[in-house]
Amino acid sequence: SKPYVFITRKISEEVLTPLNQIADVQMWNSESEAVPREVLLQEGKKADALLTMLSDSVDEELLNVASNLKVVANLAVGYDNIDLETAARNDVIVCNTPDVLTETTADLAFGLMLSAARRLAEAHLFVKEGQWQSWSPYLLAGADVHHKTIGIVGMGSIGTAVARRAKGFGMEILYHNRSRHDEAEKELGAVYKSFDELLELSDFVVCLTPLTEETKNLFDEDAFKRMKASAIFINVGRGQVVDEGALIHALEQKEIAGAGLDVFYKEPIGADHPLLKFPQVVALPHIGSASVETRTTMMELCRDNIIAVLEGRAAKSVVGRK
Ligand code: GLV
Ligand code: GLV
Repeated sequence: SKPYVFITRKISEEVLTPLNQIADVQMWNSESEAVPREVLLQEGKKADALLTMLSDSVDEELLNVASNLKVVANLAVGYDNIDLETAARNDVIVCNTPDVLTETTADLAFGLMLSAARRLAEAHLFVKEGQWQSWSPYLLAGADVHHKTIGIVGMGSIGTAVARRAKGFGMEILYHNRSRHDEAEKELGAVYKSFDELLELSDFVVCLTPLTEETKNLFDEDAFKRMKASAIFINVGRGQVVDEGALIHALEQKEIAGAGLDVFYKEPIGADHPLLKFPQVVALPHIGSASVETRTTMMELCRDNIIAVLEGRAAKSVVGRK
């Protein structure tokens, strides 16, 4: 019989055509609601392949009941929702979607920075709510972005793509990363700094680091205290890299000037989230890679990875290779 593939969210039928030819494919048919845990566990027991979202926990419990499972294809570059150790132990191949979302996510990071600096979201609400009574010189005046200093924490491919954009804005580019990035240093003039130095020198601190044991709560009270009072903090990585209590404190105490956040500690957040009370915070619902083109390409990559593994070939993008 054909292998069984379960997809945890409604995705494009068109993308699935080649997969339907070799497998029985089922998907959780909702665009708005995540698959319930019990359903994921039930489906996991039968599945040869899972196509998952970053909001699905592919943990030890799921991996240990999934006795037929050969591959998990996660529709994201990040894979902190997957227990890689148990996957490796159970001979489950884990795939992500790097590269295809790099430029799209860098666009969002840059847009969020511009939006927070120039108060675009606030200004938009101001006009929509009918508050625009007159022109005035300092009305919704924000901070310049051009020729300022950007500090990029996590200089992977997305960080490098953000740096290229920053270069176009005449910005000074600092970065911090586990390893040096010769190409970014040579081609973009990016300067490596320790984490603390970067925080102290940057006008915009842009977090793109993946979530790991080492980066959890990396941005803590001390980190925000080190930033300039005029600094704007941008997070397009993972919410749990930031101690949200410390961020709220820093905003209340005016230790930093504002924040642009695409990710949160526990997603989704509601309208009562304490970070939303600050007018100087721009909040987005984790849409870093969300262009129609890129999301489609990500789905195709997940599909191709699943087909490859089910046909006994090498997948294109494997994480935590043993
Ligand atoms: C999104 O956050 C991703 O990891 O692709
Ligand atoms: C992060 O910066 C990445 O490119 O994965």
